[in-house]
This record gives sequence, structure tokens and C-alpha cells, in this order.
Amino acid sequence: MPKKLIIAIDGPAGSGKSTTAKLVAKRLNYLYIDTGAMYRAITLLALRNELMGKTAEIIELAKSLKIVLSFIDGETNITVNGEDVSKEIRSFEVNGNVSEISAIEGVRKILVKKQQEMGKDGGVVMEGRDITTVVYPNADVKIYLTAGIDERAVRRAKEFSEKGTDVPIEKVKENLKNRDFIDSNREASPLTKSPDAIEVDTSNTTIEEQVELIIKEFKIVSEK
Ligand code: DC
Repeated sequence: MPKKLIIAIDGPAGSGKSTTAKLVAKRLNYLYIDTGAMYRAITLLALRNELMGKTAEIIELAKSLKIVLSFIDGETNITVNGEDVSKEIRSFEVNGNVSEISAIEGVRKILVKKQQEMGKDGGVVMEGRDITTVVYPNADVKIYLTAGIDERAVRRAKEFSEKGTDVPIEKVKENLKNRDFIDSNREASPLTKSPDAIEVDTSNTTIEEQVELIIKEFKIVSEK
């Protein structure tokens, strides 16, 4: 029985993490874990309960929520206390507030513990901002995906449009820049490239090339 590995992928919003990670997981028959969805779920509930800006209350809320993440028909499915919030967590409003929630150390502690538990048996492709640095610094394969801001904005605007919301490209770009800044400059585990992660700039590579590169790395590690 081959050893089940942990593949960790980090990178900024729109760098191609989700698409790449999903395909890698499919190829290997591994579990795909979208950790951003968990921060988004807490953000959604904080917005609903009008708790933005109230750190202590948000941490209490995060502690009380039962978040269940699964992967159904190639898509992330997420429930909070039994309610399916998979669609709602992708709204523009959640996008605009999620960086504030994910900068709260107490929230991160709760989610990191949960993520470590989810991947403890291996056989996972986990993506986010701190997977290669904090959640799984000893992951078997560590990847850092990046892409230029213009390319990332085009991708995100297309995603919104496919989901039925047309957001002007400049607005998407502004939101991305804002999130990049908060995600990379926050005190609690900011987005950084782990020195031993393989950096892949996806501005000019196809999804297939990205997937192949990770699978190649996976094979090298598996055969060691
Ligand atoms: O990958 P995403 O766009 O769905 O992530 C949403 C937000 O959650 C992002 O702005 C940063 C935060 N995040 C984080 O801080 N750590 C993670 N492991 C994943 C996401």
C-alpha cells in the first residue's frame, strides 16, 4: 500500500490554487481541502450576526460553529451547523470581509487545529495561505502558486460572472489588492512563501502544466 502523502499548496487569491488542487486530488484520488472556505463560512456567520469588528464575539462564534467540509461532484461543499452555505460563502460581501476575519489569531487557532486533524492520515491536497508554513510545515510536497494581479483579476471576474454576478474588473482588482495586502501583512501567520516550497508562476502556464508539475513532484517524493 503506497504511503498517503500530504500535498500543501499556498498562494494569493486568484493564483489558480483551487482549480489546480482539485485536479491534483482527482488524479491521485486524494481528498481536496479548501481551507479558505472555512474562513469564509465564519465570515458569513459574523456578517449575519452583525459581529464585524467585535473580535472576542467572533472567536466565541467560531468556537461554537460546527463546520463540515466535504467534496461532492468536484465541488467544495460546506455546512455550518447543518446548513449548506457553499454558495453564499462566495458572495462579493464575504470576499470583502474575509481578510478581516482571517487576520484574527483566535479564529486561526481554531481552524488550524481542525485542518491538522482533517489531514492527519495523509492522502490530502490542502490549499490556503498558511498550509506550507503553519498547518503542515512538514508536508511531503509544498507548492507556492502565484500570478500577476491583472491575470488574477480577470480570473476572479470570470468566476463571478459564471455565478451570475457581473463585477467590474477594476472593483475585483481593488478587492484582490486589498486582500493581498491584509493577508500578507497581518501579524497572525501572514501569507509568505515557505523557503522550501516550489514556486510556480501561473500567469503563463496552463492548468494542465501546473497539475503535471505537482504530480511529477509527488512521484519524486513517493519514490524516495
Ligand atoms: O482562498 P480564498 O480566496 O477562498 O480565501 C479566503 C480568505 O481566507 C483569504 O482572503 C485569506 C483567508 N485564508 C487564510 O488566511 N488562510 C487560509 N489557510 C486560507 C484562506
